[in-house]
Amino acid sequence: MAAEIIDGKKIANQIYDELSEKIDVLKKKNIIPKLSVVLVGDDPASAVYVRMKGNACQRLGIASETLKFDADINEQELLSTIEQLNRDASCHGILVQMPLPGHINETKIIEHILPQKDVDGFHPINKGRLQAGLPCFVPCTPAGVQEILIRSGYSPEGKHVVVIGRSQIVGMPLAILLAQKQKGANATVTICHSRTQNVDFFTKNADIIIAALGRPQAITEDMLPTHAVVIDVGVNRVEDPQSEKGYRLVGDVDFDGAVKRVKAITPVPGGVGPLTIAMLMKNTVLAAENKLFKTN
Ligand SMILES: NC(=O)c1ccc[n+]([C@@H]2O[C@H](COP(=O)([O-])OP(=O)(O)OC[C@H]3O[C@@H](n4cnc5c(N)ncnc54)[C@H](OP(=O)(O)O)[C@@H]3O)[C@@H](O)[C@H]2O)c1
Repeated sequence: MAAEIIDGKKIANQIYDELSEKIDVLKKKNIIPKLSVVLVGDDPASAVYVRMKGNACQRLGIASETLKFDADINEQELLSTIEQLNRDASCHGILVQMPLPGHINETKIIEHILPQKDVDGFHPINKGRLQAGLPCFVPCTPAGVQEILIRSGYSPEGKHVVVIGRSQIVGMPLAILLAQKQKGANATVTICHSRTQNVDFFTKNADIIIAALGRPQAITEDMLPTHAVVIDVGVNRVEDPQSEKGYRLVGDVDFDGAVKRVKAITPVPGGVGPLTIAMLMKNTVLAAENKLFKTN
């Protein structure tokens, strides 16, 4: 029997509807949420992501601006830009689009963003608060994966979740998030990475498999149990002479094989991607509400 294909766009639309109500409440208080995006250089993929984020803001009535800089900008200039945005009361969320050119220290830039405006959730204060189970900006892709699981009826509570990948952006924060002693989490989490021997031993014993390894179609049908719910975070370009662009996007899971075997699966595109953007919008609204770091 073919798997249920989980529709990420539909779930993202539900979240947009909920956010619209919150934005209306803020607007009645004369607060217009605003996201400031810093884009350095001319990486085509980064430009696409920034444009998608801007479109989502526009759809919701969130104000947004993109500050564009040439790839040869020096680190000090970028730090000064962040400082200005930190001081600007009209800017609620700051996002620096990664990757940055090699001569710029990404960690230094991230640590310069006020944690209260760090809507990507990459600042060490937000990472620490996540680990401690305190209110914080949760990184957008992990937060999106959790939303997909909960809203599609596959809560991770009590389940064995195998996360493949341990990056600071996806795998590691996701594993921490799903292992938390909190509603919508409470999973037993195994993290696999490039040094894991026999990844398939773990996947075959999983209820939920989250592929975030950045290797096109590396997770194959034979690695997956029939009862598995598979969330494919991967976005990889593979050559495709038949396509107009000369390439197509595939996930980290071999979709065509997996869909015939497992219980449910997210597609690429149209699975996790729309949720990543929806969670960025959610974090921007949270930043404008300004309650996250308050203790009363
Ligand atoms: N949909 C979205 O919104 C979204 C957002 C972000 C990222 N992504 C996609 O998600 C994927 C992962 O992104 P990322 O930034 O986390 O990638 P990354 O920084 O390259 O990390 C990849 C992780 O996978 C592990 N890994 C690599 N090969 C492996 C293998 N053969 N078996 C097991 N583990 C392996 C690596 O292990 P080591 O730690 O040992 O090196 C590393 O922890 C990419 O395809 C990316 O494009 C999608």
